[in-house]
Amino acid sequence: MSEKNKNFKIKTAVLTISDKGSRGARKDLSGPVLKEMMENIGAEIVYEEIIADEKEEIKEALIKIADQKMADLILTTGGTGFAERDITPEATLEILEKEVPGIPEKIRADTISITPQAALSRARAGIRGKSLIINFPGSPKAVRECLQAVIDIIPHGVKILKGEITEHQNKHKN
Ligand code: MTE
Repeated sequence: MSEKNKNFKIKTAVLTISDKGSRGARKDLSGPVLKEMMENIGAEIVYEEIIADEKEEIKEALIKIADQKMADLILTTGGTGFAERDITPEATLEILEKEVPGIPEKIRADTISITPQAALSRARAGIRGKSLIINFPGSPKAVRECLQAVIDIIPHGVKILKGEITEHQNKHKN
């Protein structure tokens, strides 16, 4: 953990979105990758859930976590591709107040050289209230590559969102 993030624990929720996972028919391997990587930078995992690829259920979970101020950061995994039931980006967009396109742009830009299929994820990111929400694809490999691309910029964004640092302080620092 870097010195500047030592006293700042990002409260993180991990939502795995998978029909099979929600029925217990497949072990969730991607949620644990998100958890482990976030814990490695000092984050606190405050919420975990596996839900089906159902738009209303996804929206309800995101709204509950953000509006009850349960987490600063909500990471979803799964449901971002082309399969008929993949609906995570649409559900996310419907509940976001502000979109943050730079996050998925950086993820795809940084990882497309490792995996050209990175272009096939329709993942989105944005803000609802004081929570930053980021979609990730469903495989453990994809999750690892994609979170790696943005893990260093997440704490700064969350701090600004929470009002712990102001844009003004930030401009002077850089
Ligand atoms: N991005 C990275 N960096 N690495 C990957 O292995 N897998 C891709 C893509 N994004 C992948 C990736 C594949 S194969 C698919 S189908 C899409 O994410 C959508 O995945 P999802 O439907 O599991 O969300």
